[in-house]
Amino acid sequence: MAKTVKSKYLSENEQKTIRRWIPIMIKQKSRTEEQKENRAKTFLKLRYKILGSGKTRIVYDLKNGYVLKIAISRRGLRSNQREYDIYTRCSRRMRRYLCPVMEHGHGWIIMKKLKRRAVLSDKDEMTLSKIRNRFLKEKIVARSLREKNLARYKKRFVVIDYGSFRFINQYAEEA
Ligand SMILES: Nc1ncnc2c1ncn2[C@@H]1O[C@H](COP(=O)(O)OP(=O)(O)O)[C@@H](O)[C@H]1O
Ligand SMILES: [Mg+2]
Repeated sequence: MAKTVKSKYLSENEQKTIRRWIPIMIKQKSRTEEQKENRAKTFLKLRYKILGSGKTRIVYDLKNGYVLKIAISRRGLRSNQREYDIYTRCSRRMRRYLCPVMEHGHGWIIMKKLKRRAVLSDKDEMTLSKIRNRFLKEKIVARSLREKNLARYKKRFVVIDYGSFRFINQYAEEA
């Protein structure tokens, strides 16, 4: 059972609430994205504004420059874990392309808040393809380098949703 970790960002109560949410979330039958988000929102009742949500996670604005992502499906648990693993295991020079992870616990992760990037040009697509190749050299498959998963920071692309990245040795079992 996951324990409360000493968090710089979340109170013990907030962590407890998230911990109670996870088994409930796991049990719920397949629902639409919207239903999942609503269910999470109602259960968690966190005091933060919701920034957005995707297929796997609901994202809160911690209002201090960071965001909190909480799993709303089993895949969300994996996405959070994957982001933490990728961020901590990749080289420093590739980490520059990943939205910085500050903390993580069972079912949640805290990242820097970044503005999403608008439309991609052909030149951007070339840049992304180079970035993808550089990740491959570190045995990381940088999936989903798409507009909605990217931000720009100091003129560089930064991936804000890398929950779908894969380590090559895990590729076969989880493709
Ligand atoms: N680091 C971030 N900074 C700002 N907004 C974010 C950040 N991460 C996620 N978001 C917002 O939350 C939405 C859902 O987060 P995402 O990581 O894509 O979750 P999912 O795994 O469900 O796709 C994103 O589309 C984006 O609008
Ligand atoms: Mg997403």
